[in-house]
Amino acid sequence: MTVQSDRGTRISEGSTRAIALRGHVVSCLRDPSLFPRSEAILDIEDGLVVMGDGVIQAVGPYDATSPLLPHSAIVREYPGSLIAPGFVDAHVHYAQTPMIASYGSSLLEWLSTYTFPNEELFASLEYSREVATVFFDELLRNGTTTALVFCTVFRESANAFFEEARRRNMRMIGGKVLMDRNAPSTLTETVQSGYDDSKQLIERWHGRGRLGYAITPRFAPTSSEGQLRSAASLRQEFPSCLVHSHVAENAQEVEWVRSLFQDRSSYLDVYDHAGLLGPGTVLAHGVQLSNQELDRMGATSTALAHCPTSNTFLGSGLLSIDRVRAVRPIIPVGLGTDVGAGTSFSLLATMGEAYKVAALSSSSIDAFSLFFLATLGGANALGVSEFVGSLEVGKEADVIVLNPHASELLSYRMKRVRSTEEQLFVLATLGDDRSVSATYVAGELAHERTVGAH
Ligand code: GUN
Ligand code: ZN
Repeated sequence: MTVQSDRGTRISEGSTRAIALRGHVVSCLRDPSLFPRSEAILDIEDGLVVMGDGVIQAVGPYDATSPLLPHSAIVREYPGSLIAPGFVDAHVHYAQTPMIASYGSSLLEWLSTYTFPNEELFASLEYSREVATVFFDELLRNGTTTALVFCTVFRESANAFFEEARRRNMRMIGGKVLMDRNAPSTLTETVQSGYDDSKQLIERWHGRGRLGYAITPRFAPTSSEGQLRSAASLRQEFPSCLVHSHVAENAQEVEWVRSLFQDRSSYLDVYDHAGLLGPGTVLAHGVQLSNQELDRMGATSTALAHCPTSNTFLGSGLLSIDRVRAVRPIIPVGLGTDVGAGTSFSLLATMGEAYKVAALSSSSIDAFSLFFLATLGGANALGVSEFVGSLEVGKEADVIVLNPHASELLSYRMKRVRSTEEQLFVLATLGDDRSVSATYVAGELAHERTVGAH
């Protein structure tokens, strides 16, 4: 293993004191389903990740890297723990944090019974701020350092989200929801006001620090064709913004879209026709997409956020990951928690559910591929892999420490583990926020699990 830094030269003193994390370093560098293990996975049993001035300054074996440390560096020892890149949540609704685990119904009933009344409260900036604080605490507790986030239709909710992300210096992407029909009048807007509000938010937040804006039509049923076209023209004006929506989650929803857009050949074609597909567009779910629609996603480099805990919770269906991964050109894929329909903020738990959903849909996905989806794959899907998603020199120092012994059972099971891959698989199956002992954001400690914490 080579040391990734200017080889042999001491890392220079930065404007902040360097912090070096010592432990079992693991990161994807490429997609393990496309590249040989030796190229795809960085795996250093006794490794060191050096962070300074907010970025990763060196990564390598402890013996070779520690002599390069600047004199003032602090070394934090995490023996037996994994040092990994922060997780990337490719699809989550911060405003649904208060309604996670709302009892059972299918998507459309769940939206009208729980989601819309819940989102009405976000007209208040104060309430939005309160929820944003809980949401970001929860992300950090779970080792998530980047996310693509739905706010609500209210500008206030987006302002609260961005303010809090900025305060924590996190690489976050979000946007206010666009809806102009098929929702309560308290939550709908006009095409013009949705456009104006989004534009104002883009001008205020997009590209500020580590923040990015996503133009966010909720899904085809709640936007008129005019609103979808207006979203596409906004994206043309601001091409570095993402587009973020839902697609083909549930059979009843697909039927509804068919009846609302009778001139379109499929659900995906509604977005295609409006000019919304392409690199930088992220669509959640896709459970019900046809092979033809998946091919079109690949051809346009439109990304998919796979949300397994949500799909089982709402009984939406099972995404065949093999079907998605067979498409060429490839569909960029990330993993989304989709809280509040999703049942956990933990990307570890979401990896575990993705494995089960794959198994139930005659697919299979190995632990490194799951880890890829939760880190670098998600960063690729969100267009931020030049900044985050892996432990590489020059990337932003969003780094987590995973404790394989966080519970009695984990610790007991880990005694039999023979490889890093198996260790990741056990963590995905049995782990959750208890396994995240520390989360570093841009090189600063942002969360530390205290022993015995609940
Ligand atoms: N489709 C449209 N809105 C939503 C939402 O809030 N959650 C999920 N899971 N699907 C949606
Ligand atoms: Zn969603």
